[in-house]
Amino acid sequence: MFAYNLQEMEHLNGDFQTRCTREVEKRRDTLKLPAGPLEYVYGHGSCAAGIMLIGEAPGKDEVRMGRPFVGKAGSILSEILENTGFDREDLYITNVVKYRLSREGKRPGTVANRPATTFEITNSMLWLIGEILLVRPKLILTLGNVPLKAMRHIAQYFQATAQGNLTELEKSYYEEYVNMSEIGMCHGRQLTCSFKDFTATHIPLYHPASLIYNRSLRKAYDADMKEVQRCVALLSE
Ligand code: URA
Repeated sequence: MFAYNLQEMEHLNGDFQTRCTREVEKRRDTLKLPAGPLEYVYGHGSCAAGIMLIGEAPGKDEVRMGRPFVGKAGSILSEILENTGFDREDLYITNVVKYRLSREGKRPGTVANRPATTFEITNSMLWLIGEILLVRPKLILTLGNVPLKAMRHIAQYFQATAQGNLTELEKSYYEEYVNMSEIGMCHGRQLTCSFKDFTATHIPLYHPASLIYNRSLRKAYDADMKEVQRCVALLSE
């Protein structure tokens, strides 16, 4: 019931990788990209549970393994999922930005990580929408602020287009609304996103890596995962 078409997904990934690379290459100097091609990692997994997890972007370990969330943050995520009773294999896991966010390091020949720019998030949005429309999840879990804002933007976009064209005033209102969506304000809450012909529940979660730097978030994380369990129980009724 929740299977997606693998061939269509391959086509989507190939097509958007070409488009995305073209736009990023134009900004190579501004982004201070290291020499060499962009290092892509596609979304991966099954939608057997009807759940899609969205992170920010792959890191070094993900590029090496060719899968999202397999590094340190990935181990924490796996542990959280296991404790909540989810089988990672039943979930579809992806990122907003599908290539490693790297820049030239301070010393010649080294590479450092960097945050996504607004341009890169916007440039990746249609790719993410394409994935959502193919996977058709019942529940979307965003991990951290970047995917939270991307999802709020996408939800507002679908809501606005269902209602007709946006005026400039509405556009600035939606942008303000998206800017106000901070993970600290809405983690663990059930939000709704209506797409073309289906609706998904969206629960924002902290990024698993935030638990490495801020152990006091663990309690909030556990409470949020209880909410996820409640939501999954309701969705499967
Ligand atoms: N690994 C990912 O795939 N995404 C993140 O956001 C962090 C680590």
